[in-house]
Amino acid sequence: MEIQQGDHNRSALRQQFVEQLSDETKKRIEEDAHLYLHQALSSPVMNIVSTVKGPYFYDLSGNQYLDCHGNGVHNVGFSHPKVLDAARAMLDASLTFSPRRLGNVPSIKLAKKLVQLAPDGFDRVLFCPGGSEANEMAVLLARLYTGNYKTLSYYDSFHGATALSASIGGNPHFTEGFGPMMSGCLHVEFPSYYRNPWKLPAYEREKIDDLYIHQVRRAFAQNPTIAAVVATPISSSPHVPSSYYWMQVREICNQYGALLIFDEIVCGLGRTGKLFATEHYVEPDIIVVGKSLGGGLMPSAAIITKSKFNVGGEKSVGHFTHEKNPIAGAVGLEVLETIGREGLVNNAQQQGSYLMDKLMELKEEHSIIGNIVGRGLLVGIDLVTDRARKKKAISEAEWIMYYCQQAGLSFKIIDGNTISLRPALTITSDHVDFICETLDSAFKSVSND
Ligand SMILES: Cc1ncc(COP(=O)(O)O)c(C=O)c1O
Repeated sequence: MEIQQGDHNRSALRQQFVEQLSDETKKRIEEDAHLYLHQALSSPVMNIVSTVKGPYFYDLSGNQYLDCHGNGVHNVGFSHPKVLDAARAMLDASLTFSPRRLGNVPSIKLAKKLVQLAPDGFDRVLFCPGGSEANEMAVLLARLYTGNYKTLSYYDSFHGATALSASIGGNPHFTEGFGPMMSGCLHVEFPSYYRNPWKLPAYEREKIDDLYIHQVRRAFAQNPTIAAVVATPISSSPHVPSSYYWMQVREICNQYGALLIFDEIVCGLGRTGKLFATEHYVEPDIIVVGKSLGGGLMPSAAIITKSKFNVGGEKSVGHFTHEKNPIAGAVGLEVLETIGREGLVNNAQQQGSYLMDKLMELKEEHSIIGNIVGRGLLVGIDLVTDRARKKKAISEAEWIMYYCQQAGLSFKIIDGNTISLRPALTITSDHVDFICETLDSAFKSVSND
């Protein structure tokens, strides 16, 4: 069966790629496969990492890969010296844990920094170890505040692998076959202008927006007690909705008293050329951040919201053992300071537009490129076998992915045919040139142009 979410663990091309790795690597891959429970998009693995540094990871043979996936944790680059120092300082001070009902200075400092950087009025935070849990906290808070339980989110979205987050996500890959998931999780389509279900040309943006907004209105008309809309403001694929779309959704939420939750676990912390992706659009009620907050080192995520939602004093919406982990606090603070000190938001914007320009040049040459979309350093290339019919180039995408891996460029494929490029925000124009030159030769290797 074709996996539409991403590349396949056991494809012939995966086997071929593994075959050319070193004997030591193959031995470790086998051990890993023997020990881990197998699951799609995870195990068996395709290589063994030895070191992660800056925008790169290295395998056991010392091969270098520019990591354009990094699971979204490497906004400041891997093993950033200042981030490592921040963690080390906690180890040296023996401040490695904070038992429940006790606070600690690093976590307080991180909370202070987050609310200082967040849009005006966002003055409350709650931490947890991962993004899936953070989204669950956001939804539980919305349920508590509104007294309602339903959510409206998007087909094909991903908000985490725990039961509530998977139910809010719109990909059956994470829910089917596991029995009942959470009830009341409604879905509509996320705005894609290139692949809209009405087959309208992408330039008919307003018409397409109105059709997508109609879906939201209809869901609310039939379910007036929705507690929250949960969405990535810019999806991870990515799809980039118009401002008009989010303005309308915001208004509908206001009309029905539903909260708007923006999951910025991937698109936040500078990736789209703004510190928070919400700055491109409207203000949500809860912002969820994760992944890069932990500096590629600590599991760490947070919800950021306003005091008016501080209504759970007698309940627990996020009762996690590592809620106030001091190492995560010190690391998160250093991540935010590094983003500011090194101008990474600006760099994401500049390198993102340089990358986009160069990809547009490639589109002139390679008919396999159907569409390129992105903001900052969150970019997707939709590959097609034929531009007129927009038929997804699924096997070609997989071929290109392994070709690039062998050339030292790592990325993942989303939705079966979309090359997803999310490098560290520290990259330079030389890295962008390397990405585009490698893709250029990969496209040549599959193309009849
Ligand atoms: C948009 C989005 N939200 C939530 C999550 C879940 O985060 P975690 O894996 O830290 O639980 C992910 C993970 O990939 C994600 O991409």
